[in-house]
Amino acid sequence: MSDTDQSEATQIQDSLPEYRLPVIRVPARPSDQNPGGSIFGGWIMSYVDIAGSIPALERVRGPVVTRAVDSFEFKKPVFVGDLVSCYAEIVYEGRTSMKVRVEVYAERLSKGETITVKVTEAVLTYVAIDEYRRPRQIPKK
Ligand SMILES: CC(C)(COP(=O)(O)OP(=O)(O)OC[C@H]1O[C@@H](n2cnc3c(N)ncnc32)[C@H](O)[C@@H]1OP(=O)(O)O)[C@@H](O)C(=O)NCCC(=O)NCCS
Repeated sequence: MSDTDQSEATQIQDSLPEYRLPVIRVPARPSDQNPGGSIFGGWIMSYVDIAGSIPALERVRGPVVTRAVDSFEFKKPVFVGDLVSCYAEIVYEGRTSMKVRVEVYAERLSKGETITVKVTEAVLTYVAIDEYRRPRQIPKK
């Protein structure tokens, strides 16, 4: 076991949220690595943006664009072989915009045991747009 595994294994582990399904699950591959040996932050950011757009798209049933990244934290590294799961939920609805919280968990499956860690947490703002790419009112529920 590496030092990282050892310290994570002895900590109280995170667990995947049981009450909802991830919107994306993807394994981290060697081509996604940075020279430091962990996964490139931009790879994770890209999946976070895609994951966050999913509940927004489902809510408005039309196109949305990312307007802002309100917060973004890389809490723990992701490594090659980790199974990465992104959970996303709308936490605020305005007139045309929605804030979506995205939580990312890594299951360190390649190490022979299941260690689950929350690796990233972010809040992004998506805006519903019309055919002229202008902000569009979110439909009533
Ligand atoms: C999204 C876009 C059409 C909105 O245009 P805009 O002139 O900012 O529109 P508005 O000022 O009316 O704001 C629209 C909504 O965004 C919100 N908003 C604007 N700036 C924001 C910011 N910095 N952070 C969070 N929300 C913001 C507004 O509060 C408003 O929400 P509401 O209607 O729920 O109150 C325009 O900014 C755009 O095209 N941006 C580029 C999007 C893009 O290419 N993203 C990357 C690829 S998907």
